[in-house]
This record gives sequence, structure tokens and C-alpha cells, in this order.
Amino acid sequence: MGKSKILIIGASGNLGFHLAEASLKFDHPTFALVRDSAFSDPIKAQKLHSLSHAGATLLKGSLQDEASIVEAVKLVDVVISAVSAKQTLDQKLLIRVIKQSGSIKRFIPAEFGADPTKVQIYDLEDGHNFYAPKLEIRQMVEAEGIPYTCICCNFFMKILLPSLVQPGLNAPPRDKVTIFGDGNTKGVFVKENDVAAFTISTVDDPRTLNKVLYLRPPGNVCSLNELVEMWETKIGKKLEKSHVSEEELVKKIKGTSYPANFEQLFIYSAFIKKDHTYFDIESSNGVNGTELYPQLKYTTVSEFLDTLV
Ligand SMILES: NC(=O)c1ccc[n+]([C@@H]2O[C@H](COP(=O)([O-])OP(=O)(O)OC[C@H]3O[C@@H](n4cnc5c(N)ncnc54)[C@H](OP(=O)(O)O)[C@@H]3O)[C@@H](O)[C@H]2O)c1
Repeated sequence: MGKSKILIIGASGNLGFHLAEASLKFDHPTFALVRDSAFSDPIKAQKLHSLSHAGATLLKGSLQDEASIVEAVKLVDVVISAVSAKQTLDQKLLIRVIKQSGSIKRFIPAEFGADPTKVQIYDLEDGHNFYAPKLEIRQMVEAEGIPYTCICCNFFMKILLPSLVQPGLNAPPRDKVTIFGDGNTKGVFVKENDVAAFTISTVDDPRTLNKVLYLRPPGNVCSLNELVEMWETKIGKKLEKSHVSEEELVKKIKGTSYPANFEQLFIYSAFIKKDHTYFDIESSNGVNGTELYPQLKYTTVSEFLDTLV
């Protein structure tokens, strides 16, 4: 049996580009549904050119243009959506088209974060509700009986790790560091190209059919205390530590609104509420990515921090 043909939606974006690259690397016939406007952005145009040069077929269209989705879906076996969080509900028409086609063997919706059925930050979101649309899409896919895999990769490494989890900074601190909570709760970081490689590995794998793939790679499940210690060793210096309690963090989150408080909100979720790791992966609906694909090499948190020294 040949490799599945994969359609990526969002290939001009951050994760979508990595997904398209990984799809090509793993020898899948690769298609990308691309909006016309992406070609007038020089950076996106360059990304699309490089994908096309590497063998991807670019199809013009958008999630609002039903005819373009119908035509694109006809060409492939697998659809992966990597639209951004704020476009989550725009996937509804795509889901209806996939349902009607009846020919898609696997759909991977744009989740790619913490598990929306497990996160415990709803009470702090003050009406914004980051995960509710993702949950709604997952429930719609399940209700329609579309074969799916959801990817719960937790944090991309570009989120919070470049600052060593210091809101507002864009490089790790070299003198003083703030620890949220007691610093012992573990969060998970995975580099975007690794998320893409794990995602593409699932598409023809019966073990991931109608399952959630969780990524908790050894070496990438770290507490704030562990991150700080790792960084101190790398720069050969102890940092001055101050602590922000759970109550103080909650007060900060409530004192502002989304998206201004998004870093604090995600810190609260991962490093106070333990949303990445408080639950075991249940074999009835979940699988562990690094256990399923031990051959996939990935960037560890320590290797990522090495690039920042
Ligand atoms: N776990 C984490 O730490 C983390 C961090 C960031 C994102 N994520 C998740 O990763 C996924 C992808 O996010 P991202 O940040 O990579 O997205 P992004 O860079 O904003 O890219 C979004 C892509 O979707 C395309 N798109 C948007 N609306 C479309 C439409 N109507 N029709 C067709 N294409 C459309 C965009 O095309 P144009 O170029 O035409 O605009 C772009 O290619 C999301 O599920 C997001 O929640 C996770």
C-alpha cells in the first residue's frame, strides 16, 4: 500500500509549514490549500515556493470557499488542519465537506496544544475561553464519525521557553528569575518540527485511529526549578530567585484580559494546575507519541537552551 496523500491547510503558517515539510520528508504525496493573499507576503511566498520546489502541490482556496475545499479533499486520503487558534471554528465547513466526501481516512484538526478536555483554566478566562472552540471541533469530528487523530503536544518550544518562562522577556534571564508556585510542577515543551514529525507518523498508523496522541518526550517534561537549574549550569552562574504564589498569579491574570495575560494564563495552566501532566494517558482514547515512535529523534529542552547560551 502506498503512502497516504496528505492535504495540509495552513502551510504558509508556522506549524503548517513544518507539517508540509515533514509530509514531504516522509514521502507522502503532499498538497497544500493556500489562500491567494499568502502569495503577496514575501516570507509566506518564499515558504510556499520552497514547498512547491520540494514537490508539494499548491492548491488555491480557503476554508470559506466550499468549492475549493471539495476539490482539494477529493485529491487526498488525509487532511491536516493547522489554522491558528483564533480560526478554530472556521474548520466547521471543512468538517462538513470531509463528512460528505466519505473518503478521508484520517482528519487531524488544529488542536496542537494542551488537551482541551483536561485543562483547568476555564474559570480564569473571563469570557475569552481559549480551549472551548477546540473542544467544540473535537466533539463535532467525533459526532460526525470522521476518522481522526488529535495531537496534544503541549507547549511549542517557541512558547515561554525562550524566556525561561519569564513573561515579557524574549531571552532567558542572566541575573534574576521568577518562579511561579513552588516550582516543582512539570510542563512539556516540544519543538514545532518535532510536533510535525510525530503528527505525520500517525496518519497511516492504525494505533492512532480515533485516538489522542500525547507528546511527553523524556527530557522535555520539566519543572520551573529544573529549567532554572539547567540554565544556571549552562551559564555557570546562580540566579537570584523570587517567587510568585498561585494567589498572586491569579490576581495578575484577573487584573488584565486575554490576550495581554496569555503568558500568565498558560503558566498557570501548566506550572500551577499541572494541565500537561496531571492525568495518565488512558489506552481507551490516548497514545503516547514517544512510546509509539521511539525511532523519531527530537530536540530536548537542554539542547534548545544550549542555543540560547
Ligand atoms: N502548543 C503551542 O504552544 C502552540 C503555539 C502556537 C500555535 N499552536 C497551535 O498550532 C496550530 C497552528 O497555529 P500556528 O500558530 O502555526 O498558525 P499560523 O502561523 O497563524 O498559521 C495559520 C495558517 O492558517 C491559514 N489560514 C487561516 N485562515 C485560513 C482560511 N480561512 N483558509 C485557509 N487557510 C487559512 C493561514 O493562511 P494565510 O497565510 O493565508 O494567513 C496560515 O497558513 C493551531 O492549532 C494553534 O492553536 C500551538
